[in-house]
Amino acid sequence: MVEGINNCWPTPIYKTTLGPDECSLMVIGNVMPVIEKTFDLFFKEVYNKSLNDYIHKFKHWKHIGLKELHNHQGASFSAVFYPEVSDTMEGGEIIIKDPRGNANRGYDHDEFQVQFDDIKFKPKGGDVLIMPSFLYHQVIPTTDNRIAIPVDLYIMDI
Ligand SMILES: [Fe+2]
Repeated sequence: MVEGINNCWPTPIYKTTLGPDECSLMVIGNVMPVIEKTFDLFFKEVYNKSLNDYIHKFKHWKHIGLKELHNHQGASFSAVFYPEVSDTMEGGEIIIKDPRGNANRGYDHDEFQVQFDDIKFKPKGGDVLIMPSFLYHQVIPTTDNRIAIPVDLYIMDI
């Protein structure tokens, strides 16, 4: 039962930071131990579960980030690992959109717009974001050094 003020329908966008050893492993391409450990931490902190409570598979690759708005259809949770980012990077932010479509219709006054604001995140070296794969997002282009490793987690039916 809803009573008083409730912030309903939360969408978990989880941020953590890797240690230097984990960043080095990812840069040389030994990514799976870090990916599994980080997703396990995510499930423990957000859902009080562990990664191995689910039959799952991962897909990951290296790319610079799509500037077009997109989501990761078919996956359950999507992460971006940033093992190396220039301290002086210009651009490179990820923009995450409110998933509620046209929910802002009818709220013409500025004070309500905070309910629909984009989330804009500028990564630092070692940062990791994990979010539900249905969230639409895009990346501001950068020509500065930034290694981003997107990872999709597929939770399978039993
Ligand atoms: Fe993406």
